[in-house]
Amino acid sequence: MKKNIKNNVSWVGKIDTELRQFHGSDYSTHKGSSYNSYLIQEEKTILVDTVWRPYADEFVNNLKQEIDLNKIDAIVVNHGEVDHSGALLALLEQIPDTPVYCTAKAVDSLTGQYHRKWNFKTVKTGDTLDIGNGKSLAFVEMTMLHWPDSMATYLTGDNILFSNDAFGQHYAFGGLFNDLADRCVLEYEAIKYYANILTPFSQILKRKLSEILSMELPIDIIATSHGVIWRDNPIQIVEKYAAWCDNYQENQITIAYDTMWDGTRSLADAIAAGIVEEDPKVTVKVYNIAKTDKNDVITEIFKSKMLVMGSPTVGNDMLGSVAGFLHFLKELKMKNKKAATFGCYGWTGEAPKKMAEFLEKAGYDLVDEPFRNNWNPDANAIHTARELGRRLAKA
Ligand code: FEO
Repeated sequence: MKKNIKNNVSWVGKIDTELRQFHGSDYSTHKGSSYNSYLIQEEKTILVDTVWRPYADEFVNNLKQEIDLNKIDAIVVNHGEVDHSGALLALLEQIPDTPVYCTAKAVDSLTGQYHRKWNFKTVKTGDTLDIGNGKSLAFVEMTMLHWPDSMATYLTGDNILFSNDAFGQHYAFGGLFNDLADRCVLEYEAIKYYANILTPFSQILKRKLSEILSMELPIDIIATSHGVIWRDNPIQIVEKYAAWCDNYQENQITIAYDTMWDGTRSLADAIAAGIVEEDPKVTVKVYNIAKTDKNDVITEIFKSKMLVMGSPTVGNDMLGSVAGFLHFLKELKMKNKKAATFGCYGWTGEAPKKMAEFLEKAGYDLVDEPFRNNWNPDANAIHTARELGRRLAKA
């Protein structure tokens, strides 16, 4: 269903309330998502992005209710990932010669995925497209934010930045606009999105934000490709990104662990108690990673100044759940974080040391010796774990 955004610009996307996993099963979407596509109807009619492939037919049929598809003068593809390009096949089957404006890298990604020779018009930063009525589209490459092919498109006159993935959230919200959304959900989903998808590209983002800000473009609306459209103080999300890409941390320590027979869990609780005894102002969050959503724990680590990671030893190493979690964490390349490790063991006890070595290689600053406890913690071990917590609070 078409919804007006501003003047002759409308939303024609898909709100996906049922989605619970994204990027395969790598990203949890507790609040669903949306694939925001936009229709600009000036002297020229332009479609900006499409929707995920399962909704392609629905998308094209809806679009047909609104316009004669042959009136579309151009399609702007800001990013080739299938959640935004997935309806191109169905659409371009009906209007095969329509020009597709995208970056050179997007020609690669679209051709690689769909194996079609569409009427590509490659653009780079600074290129513009006159769409009549005194308005034009200006393209800004967003290389590696988060794919090589990514770009943003700015509509002059209406001052709308179609930012694609940047500034988005996985949040299915039919009200579309940020001022109508549940603020708590919106803020959480925005930081979760950043932490789990954009963190590895923080340094690139930092440079891109200054480049965009130096253009001094008036921005009235940031029209993302997922979640809400920022129309109420849209710069607020740009300011958040500026903070998040700059080695972000809050006064928080996250303890993340898995446990076999509760010994490592007991240590986690004792370390948490010790931290709070030493520093009642620090926020301490404790998660069994086997029982908590991975992306939610990652979000909490992103907000933290320190990660305390726990695993019992099995097979001379950490648990597989912890190894997988640490692998994902390493890929995110978080910076400026301290770390410590702990765990129970029966006979060899390598896990805390191996986790510490892994975290150190991943760029974490280890602030205490790996702490291991033989068999189940007794009162003395619990005391030692609390003392560790106190030292970590001071580290
Ligand atoms: Fe929302 Fe990178 O696709």
